[in-house]
Amino acid sequence: MKTELLDAGGASRAGSLVRSGALVVFPTETVYGLGADAFNPISCARIFEAKGRPQDNPLITHIHDRSQVELLARELPPGAEILMDAFWPGPLTLVLPKKTAVSDIVTAGLDTVGVRMPDHPAALEFLRAAGTPVAAPSANRSGRPSPTNFAMACDAMESRVEAILDGGPCETGLESTVAAWSDTPSARGWIILRPGAVTREDLFSVLDDLFVRDAGIRDESLLARSPGTRHPHYRPNAEVRMFEEAQELEAEQIALAAGWAVVALDGAGTVPGSGGGKRIERRYAGWIDLARRLYVDFSELDALGVPGIFVQAPAARSGATEGGIAEALLNRLLKASAGKRAGES
Ligand code: TXA
Ligand code: MG
Repeated sequence: MKTELLDAGGASRAGSLVRSGALVVFPTETVYGLGADAFNPISCARIFEAKGRPQDNPLITHIHDRSQVELLARELPPGAEILMDAFWPGPLTLVLPKKTAVSDIVTAGLDTVGVRMPDHPAALEFLRAAGTPVAAPSANRSGRPSPTNFAMACDAMESRVEAILDGGPCETGLESTVAAWSDTPSARGWIILRPGAVTREDLFSVLDDLFVRDAGIRDESLLARSPGTRHPHYRPNAEVRMFEEAQELEAEQIALAAGWAVVALDGAGTVPGSGGGKRIERRYAGWIDLARRLYVDFSELDALGVPGIFVQAPAARSGATEGGIAEALLNRLLKASAGKRAGES
């Protein structure tokens, strides 16, 4: 298939393509999405094929205007409007009871639908031109890191989709927070199914007692309903291991000598050993910057053929720092590394 590569001026062209049934990759503030008309089941089915995605993993629908919520959601759980007022447009996906008109292909047979309004000018213009909610997962091949710039989006999807819209590098660099209403006796309130740039502190600050703080641990049944949490995710070709301070890499001299790269904060300390001056290190001023660049680094370091990457991970309870992106970053690193830390060979 010939893929049209559109610059940001092509947003309305991209919108009319989607409206006519095409698959279009588009930028958002989090990661690039692989979009189809949410009310066209045939186009939506093609998303799974283009990604190589398991059919049991539901898609997020993207809108540009609050009035579109009623096309998708049957009713709004308590606090839903408070969340839309506070965080839309922005990196928060709300899981809402779905209308019957929303196809099972979009929701993987669940009775809920994920809805989000992205905070990106080209995305909003594209969605306005589409004139329909756009179902879109991240635009990576299944299991791989999400594309967070135009080159990565082209790498993943050129020749698999009708068009790719260039919106530059993504601001956040990690996927949106996914929140769902839970109505079980032990957990009545909003819970986080996937952490992102909108943090638990953010949700708590507007929801108060409509927010369940540690539901992720307690409510296994709801987590089981977010099938995305079951599949392997965010993996580069290189093996990933986490560390918190550079001195932990003392135990990894063999890997370092074999050319493993290091991705860390400026303040992580000096990586022990010689490295022969040819070791690749990428350093960032803070977690927000590291999060923004993580998937770009994965992609570029893969292209360089490094055998592995040591990535500095936030300590488990530092989620409240630096806008709270640390919790989302730790979540992605736990998956990318399968929980492996430096020194545990
Ligand atoms: O930032 C983002 O959310 C990006 C951009 C493109 O918007 N999209 C994205 O989509 O990351 P995807 O498909 O890669 O991840 C969606 C996550 C999955 O873990 C999925 O299981 C969950 O949201 N999800 C979607 N609909 C759901 C539903 N009805 N109930 C529970 N979980 C749902
Ligand atoms: Mg994804």
